[in-house]
Amino acid sequence: MKSSDRNLGIKEKIQLLAEKSINLKKYNLNSDTDYYFQNFPRLVNVKEKDRETFYPLAQSTWGSEEHKVILDQLKTGQLTMGKNVEKFEKNFADFFGSKYAIMVNSGSSANLIMIAAITLLAKFNFKKGDEVIVPALGWSTSFSPFSQYGIKLKFIDINSSTLNIDENKIEDAISNKTRAILAINILGNPVEFNKIKKICKKNKLLLIEDNCESLGARYNSKYAGSIGLASSHSFFFSHHIQTIEGGMITTNDKDICEYSRSLRAHGWTRDSLEKNFKDNSPLEKFHNSFKFILPGYNVRPNEFNGILGTTQLKKLPYFLKGRKNNANLFLSLFDKKNYCKVQECLHESSWYGFSLILDGNLKNKRDLVLNELFKNRIETRPVVTGNFLKNSACNFMNYEISGILKNVEDVDRNGFFVGNSHINLENQLLRLSEILEKLNKK
Ligand SMILES: Cc1ncc(COP(=O)(O)O)c(C=O)c1O
Repeated sequence: MKSSDRNLGIKEKIQLLAEKSINLKKYNLNSDTDYYFQNFPRLVNVKEKDRETFYPLAQSTWGSEEHKVILDQLKTGQLTMGKNVEKFEKNFADFFGSKYAIMVNSGSSANLIMIAAITLLAKFNFKKGDEVIVPALGWSTSFSPFSQYGIKLKFIDINSSTLNIDENKIEDAISNKTRAILAINILGNPVEFNKIKKICKKNKLLLIEDNCESLGARYNSKYAGSIGLASSHSFFFSHHIQTIEGGMITTNDKDICEYSRSLRAHGWTRDSLEKNFKDNSPLEKFHNSFKFILPGYNVRPNEFNGILGTTQLKKLPYFLKGRKNNANLFLSLFDKKNYCKVQECLHESSWYGFSLILDGNLKNKRDLVLNELFKNRIETRPVVTGNFLKNSACNFMNYEISGILKNVEDVDRNGFFVGNSHINLENQLLRLSEILEKLNKK
């Protein structure tokens, strides 16, 4: 929506959004997806309120094509990691402009393997007690792998508008042990990469990205998740593309790729890009199939995850467009309202979901608001984890706090999150607005 469209009434805005409707055929959408699309208003008919969640946190991105590829794959009998995972990795790397992509069974595993690879690689020279600067708003498994590999977490506050790591507070947190910055692109919103990269260059720090919430977001012309030394991605149910469970590591660094491929599967050499087989003779196989070089895991995806990935990736532009349309309406309804603050997206967000931080009349009245939304069958959740430091998981981690965590505390106390998806949410967003406006006037 252009800035001039902001002055339109709600009905006119919806009309405008409808006119920008998406060309389904272009994205090979099948009848099931069309079915969900056409029948969605029925699902959300207010009269049926006793039966359905009116506004869910997450929705399926699957249609009949996904069902078909699963059944076809089942019939082949090849279910463990194979050609389909490899194909998805190649498509994903091409799409995001990364040299290498390594698929694993979740975004959390992507974080684990990525951080394990970087900290184990001799060339990065990590030592126990070295530090990584992280935002206090993130996911548990954004942080725990660092701790598991002996790296101390240094938590800093977030920017109150973008909800991303506050780049202006990074330099105060740097010590002679700081080795890296973890950039978590929160809820689809890319961090201030240029500023953070400058800090990294000046202080010789590595930039690592957790892009699990922000598939398809862009910073200038580059995709978030292709800018740091390595990045993690998630394909869990609520995410932009869905492969049941699934995750990916992207990097341009061949050593990180090789270590990740080994760590993903037991720490063995068998999946190395540099073939360790001269030929396929039984003796070669005997000597080389069971060689272990790293303290690995088994976090392999399976062929269903792989084929679903390729199928879903084709539709990502369409999913992103649907999410953006919803975001335009969300902004037109909630931006600049005195009773809430919304996330400021200075670059191209992929709008994982919509955060609202209550303010003005509604500040410190979150329970009242959540109860009202619950009564109206609108699902809510905290913004990511709220202030992560309040979770007792931290008792198991070596960490320190740099500065005051004021903004994340406000998110923790006054913030909540409603869902976004590729499906048109105009009825839901209008209802949400009606409820909040009414509560604001009470
Ligand atoms: C920022 C962030 N990192 C990592 C993850 C973990 O991804 P997964 O659920 O695929 O393990 C999530 C989960 O949503 C997340 O929000």
